[in-house]
Amino acid sequence: MTAKIIDGKAFAAKVREQVAAHVARLKEEQGITPGLAVVLVGEDPASKVYVSSKGKQTVEVGMNSYEHKLPDTTGEAELLALIARLNADPAVHGILVQLPLPKHLNSDLVINAIDPAKDVDGFHISNVGLLGTGQKSMVPCTPLGCLMMLRDHHGSLAGMDAVVVGRSNIVGKPMAQLLLGDSCTVTIAHSRTKDLAEVCRRADILVAAVGRPEMIPGDWVKPGATVIDVGINRIERDGKARLVGDVHYDSAAAVAGAITPVPGGVGPMTIACLLANTLTACCRANG
Ligand code: GUN
Repeated sequence: MTAKIIDGKAFAAKVREQVAAHVARLKEEQGITPGLAVVLVGEDPASKVYVSSKGKQTVEVGMNSYEHKLPDTTGEAELLALIARLNADPAVHGILVQLPLPKHLNSDLVINAIDPAKDVDGFHISNVGLLGTGQKSMVPCTPLGCLMMLRDHHGSLAGMDAVVVGRSNIVGKPMAQLLLGDSCTVTIAHSRTKDLAEVCRRADILVAAVGRPEMIPGDWVKPGATVIDVGINRIERDGKARLVGDVHYDSAAAVAGAITPVPGGVGPMTIACLLANTLTACCRANG
């Protein structure tokens, strides 16, 4: 079998088009422009790339982008004061603090200082609780993007065996909640899971979010399964810099029914969902 490639880049472009059309209507009919504030503390090179990409795409769909770049010497009180200002600013509908924060800052404290209604990452403890109890919440962007691709490919996910490899708060745990919400039978596996290969082989839907380059080979994939590869790992091969996922693409694509490539799979969907969440936050704020 050769897997169908799930084209996240094309899907994300469609989502952005829909967001842009809705933003244009909001402006014309209600004079409202959604605004997204992104806060970057420090000089992490990967974070800088993500933040500039987020800002660019925010403007491209017609929203206002407010970038706050702070030095890595920024203290907690100063960062919390900025968040308080953004919480109170009616022009800002979404707030995102880029992670990881420098070590001297307490990420939980900072994230939980964001107004949950503006928490477009869905990381605030209130949103985590709402998602876990099946209530309306802001949903973390990467798992939301994965779910959208899965629903688009399968229609209903009810009754499918889903295995999520990785238990992070950003991807693994919310992904499992979303799949459970769509009536999958969900297993969360991780680095301490016994017989990880066997667990993966049971999956109709296999979501890899461990951050280890090409850790999951094709012979861990059930024939015909759908593989969602969340990993974005920079490696060097044959003297060239390359991006690879957490799944060994060639061997997995030979047995899977469908697979997301890296790059061009989950990655583009994450920012598209961030824009969609900002629009949602803006619509909720304006009744
Ligand atoms: N760092 C890596 N992924 C993310 C994300 O989805 N949101 C934020 N805020 N930081 C990240």
